[in-house]
Amino acid sequence: MVKLSPMRAAVFDDPASAPRFSPWDKGRFQLSLGIKAIAPAEWIEVDRHYTAHLVEKRRLLTERHGEVFDALPESGAAQAECLDRLLGHLTRDHPGLVEIDGRHLRVRATGEILNRDDFATAPLDLAGRLVQEDLCLMAPGEGTWRLIAASLCFPARWRLADKLGRPMSAIHAPVPGFNAQLARPVDRFFAKVTAEQPYMRVNWSVIDDATLFQPTGHGRSAFDPTITPENLGDRLHLRVERQTFTALPDSGALVFGIKTVIDPIGVLADRPGLVATLRSTIATMPEDMRGYKSMAPFAGALDTYLAGLEAAAARDGATPPSPPIS
Ligand code: HEM
Repeated sequence: MVKLSPMRAAVFDDPASAPRFSPWDKGRFQLSLGIKAIAPAEWIEVDRHYTAHLVEKRRLLTERHGEVFDALPESGAAQAECLDRLLGHLTRDHPGLVEIDGRHLRVRATGEILNRDDFATAPLDLAGRLVQEDLCLMAPGEGTWRLIAASLCFPARWRLADKLGRPMSAIHAPVPGFNAQLARPVDRFFAKVTAEQPYMRVNWSVIDDATLFQPTGHGRSAFDPTITPENLGDRLHLRVERQTFTALPDSGALVFGIKTVIDPIGVLADRPGLVATLRSTIATMPEDMRGYKSMAPFAGALDTYLAGLEAAAARDGATPPSPPIS
């Protein structure tokens, strides 16, 4: 057995500093690449939900495997390379999280022992069981990139079956403005991602369902009278995806990692500096984007709630906290 040092304390573990990301903090909506270079050691993040997220992944992979894992036959080499790189990264940068004993991997937090031989034809499935991130593999071809495999337990309102094998433009067809504004910059960006220079970006939404596995739910418009300014601090959530991009040099594929963080929107009561910018970002969001994000059911109540927080902060003379990472 390879003895590893004790599990490093979870890095982003302080509920008091939630939300960890506030990508709306410019105060106006903009569809943008929003990429930021990160160190290779920052690829995977571990937080206080690590055990719960792994347990939920295991449940989904047991009960509805076909919906949360799928891969094209051509993805074998990229899957194997992804697992190898992930194990190297975890050993180096999150020592103690996973113990490696020959062909066996022991996930320290859950006690689960996984045998690499059981995943010989689907190493990406094994990789996805070790980390909170969902892992999607993208392959280059014909001037764009296609999704060739994914371990996707926590989709934000999309189905893997609808996207596997498809290029970026088709994957993003439902996203208002994506193909006109972002498709080409994204393809150019992917070409510069390397293993030595990974990147991240952040996607966010305000949602009325805190479930991690959400295969549907875009474009809902019916007003929901049960969500009120009085109760929405618990009823609505900020759903933020920390998305990472790193390259697999041998197979030529990219790994698109999606780490999902969900906080009740009530956390903003302690972060007055983020309230006004969220309110104005939502106000400047194009109608089709608000529709896509299913904000109509609670838009009025949310604005009243945020206006109330803003007024309370002004009364208290609260000074905005230092800007978070966006
Ligand atoms: C720099 C790269 C990327 C950018 C700028 C980008 C941007 C976006 C944006 C703005 C949305 C709308 C999210 C929302 O507001 O709710 C979105 C949705 C989505 N993205 Fe990306 N994305 C990128 C990479 C990828 C990759 C590599 C995949 C591969 C799986 C992907 C899959 C999706 C899917 C499946 C959706 C939901 C589409 C739907 O509603 O059916 N994205 N993306």
